[in-house]
Amino acid sequence: MHDISQYQDFFISYLKNQSIQKNPKNLYEPIEYILGLGGKRMRPVLTLMAAEVFDTDYKVALPAAMAVEVFHNFSLVHDDIMDDAPLRRGQETVHEKWDLNTGILSGDAMLILAYQYFEQYEPVVFRDLAKLFSKTALEVCEGQQWDVDFEKRNDVTIPEYLKMIEYKTAVLVAAAMKMGAIVAKTSEKEGDLIYNFGLNLGLAFQLQDDYLDAFGDPETFGKQVGGDIMVNKKTYLYLKAREFSSPEKASELEKLFSLQLKDNIEKIETAKNIFNESGASKATQDAIETYTFKAFETLEKMDINAEKKDILRTFGENLMGRKV
Ligand code: IPE
Ligand code: IPE
Ligand code: MG
Ligand code: MG
Ligand code: MG
Repeated sequence: MHDISQYQDFFISYLKNQSIQKNPKNLYEPIEYILGLGGKRMRPVLTLMAAEVFDTDYKVALPAAMAVEVFHNFSLVHDDIMDDAPLRRGQETVHEKWDLNTGILSGDAMLILAYQYFEQYEPVVFRDLAKLFSKTALEVCEGQQWDVDFEKRNDVTIPEYLKMIEYKTAVLVAAAMKMGAIVAKTSEKEGDLIYNFGLNLGLAFQLQDDYLDAFGDPETFGKQVGGDIMVNKKTYLYLKAREFSSPEKASELEKLFSLQLKDNIEKIETAKNIFNESGASKATQDAIETYTFKAFETLEKMDINAEKKDILRTFGENLMGRKV
C-alpha cells in the first residue's frame, strides 16, 4: 500500500495524461476547466486505495477512479446551477464563467465520458462496474431532488435529511470504494463491507460540508460561505437548531429560512448565531464523529491486515480535520 498523498499523485498524473480536449471547444473546455481546478480527489483516491486493500495494483483501478472523479465533477457542474453557486474551488463556477446552457451540456457530456472509462475493463468487471455506477448515479439524482425540494419545505425531519445526504453524497463515496473492490475481484462480503465503510464516511463528509458551508474560512474554503443559508437549505445545523430552540426562536428561524434573500449578510449572521447558541453546531460536530466512528467499526469486521485498516482509519481521521 501507499500513503494518501501518493495515491493523489498517481491519480493526478493519470488525469493529466487524458486527452479530453476536442471540438467543439465550448463543450470540452469547461470539462477541462472543472477537472483541472483540483479539489481533494477524495473519491478516486478511495478507489485506488480499495483496490490495494484487496491486493490489486492501484494501476488496474485508474480508469474506474477516473470514472468516479469525472462523474463527481459532472455532478458539481449541475449542482452549482441548482444551488446558484458562484464559486467552486476558489474559482468561477462553469455556468458563471460560460453560461447555463454550457453548464448543462458539458455536464451531460461528462456523464457519458465517465461511463466510457469502464470500456477499458473485461466484460464481467465492466458489467459489475456499470451496474453499481448506474444505481449510484440514479440515487445521486434522487438525493439532489430531495435537497432542492427541502428548500421550500419547513417540516423536514432528521431522518429525511439523513436519507437525502446518503443519496446525494454518501452512496458515491461508498461506490468509489466498492469499485476498487470490483476491479480487485474480491468477495461480495468484503465488497459490501467496504461499501458500508464508505457510506458512513460519506455521511460524516456531507455533515462536515454543511458545517463548513456556514463556518468555513472564506479565504480557504473555495465556495461561497453562507451559500446554504442563502438558499434555505435544510441542513443538520438548521434542523438541530430548530429542534433545540424555544418555540419563539424556532419560528424566527423558520421565517428566516422562508425568505428569498440573495447576498443578505444579516440573514447569514443571524442564522449562524442561532446555530451556535442553540447547540446545533456542537450537535453537528458530534454527528460527524459518530458517523466516522461507525465507519471504523465496519473496518473491524473486514478480513484485511492491521496496516491496511490503519491507512483507511487515517483517511477517515484526516477527513474529520479538514477545512476545505
Ligand atoms: C463537494 O465534494 C460535494 C459534496 C458532496 C459535498 P468535495 O468536497 O469532495 O469537492 P472537491 O472535489 O474536493 O472540490
Ligand atoms: C453536493 O451537495 C452533492 C452533489 C454534488 C451531488 P452540496 O450542494 O452541499 O455540495 P457543495 O457544497 O456545493 O460542494
Ligand atoms: Mg452545492
Ligand atoms: Mg447542492
Ligand atoms: Mg455543500
